[in-house]
Amino acid sequence: LKSQKPIVVIQQEICDYLQANVAHYDWVGFYFKNGDKEELKLGPYAGEPTDHTIIPFGKGICGQVAVSNQNFVVPDVTAQDNYIACSITVKAEIVVPLFVNGENIGQIDIDSNTPDPFTEEDERFLEFVNSEIAKLIERERQ
Ligand code: SME
Repeated sequence: LKSQKPIVVIQQEICDYLQANVAHYDWVGFYFKNGDKEELKLGPYAGEPTDHTIIPFGKGICGQVAVSNQNFVVPDVTAQDNYIACSITVKAEIVVPLFVNGENIGQIDIDSNTPDPFTEEDERFLEFVNSEIAKLIERERQ
């Protein structure tokens, strides 16, 4: 069975819900690999609009996760050299890759205005969110 709603709508609802209901999640968004290009493109998000709608692989926290395939937890963004600032209010960031059939197709990215707020609980939770989205995408591809 296909899901009732388009996946992009579900992703938008997840962004809106998490941004509104998790105190330390101030900006929540998805980036996805942009076709065959070695870059990420911004998908659904909740929070302040960002200028960074395209991020080359390797650039910033997001671009690094696109090539490392690993979670990236940043307790203090000022301590990162390879960081793209979206807002001066942001203190910390977490990026968790989204794997579909083992392939890193994008990521969930969360900015926090609270210093050092992210724990392993956030990592496990966001991995779970991404794995549920991956199941929907895998089902749609069948
Ligand atoms: N800070 C990210 C850029 C995306 S914004 O947080 C929305 C980075 O360094 O890749």
